[in-house]
Amino acid sequence: MSTKIAVYPGSFDPITKGHLDMIERATKIFDKVIVCVMINSSKNYLFNCEERVALIKDCLDGIENVEVDFYDGLLIDYVRMRNTNIIVKGLRAFLDFEYEFQMALTNKHLDNEIETFFMITSNKHSYLSSTLVKELVKYQGDVSDFLPKNVEKAIQKKYEEGCMK
Ligand code: PNS
Repeated sequence: MSTKIAVYPGSFDPITKGHLDMIERATKIFDKVIVCVMINSSKNYLFNCEERVALIKDCLDGIENVEVDFYDGLLIDYVRMRNTNIIVKGLRAFLDFEYEFQMALTNKHLDNEIETFFMITSNKHSYLSSTLVKELVKYQGDVSDFLPKNVEKAIQKKYEEGCMK
């Protein structure tokens, strides 16, 4: 049987407990999961690529079949470069469908071999987003339920440095 490698792409600005839940579940289904920090050209990022990668690596310490990477380019090119055709993405209730559907179909149009698998987020994370978390931190709301400890510390530091105005 061939090894099933899945690429889990995203902005991860920053990674949340919702993303972590997806990654942990995906590692139980696929032989290997590559979490790839990528660029969404419609977003301005709080954390630079190196910071986002480092925070994710910290969170996933101890999970064997996961790798964290960064790629500035087309997702399908990265997927092909990693010798796979599997993309895995999370779907939250109401929030994501149209956008994810559009991306999955565009990627399929660009390369018909590519398959996108959607996993439904767990109920408790169904409304969570990095954008919402940043808004909360900006006004010093409590984000401890949404972020792993290392990320909470890092985002609080950004706030203290005045990066969240
Ligand atoms: O977490 P996000 O911002 O929803 O992730 C979106 C991301 C980064 C996965 C998407 O913008 C992407 O795939 N960017 C890489 C460039 C690309 O391939 N764009 C075409 C997508 S159809």
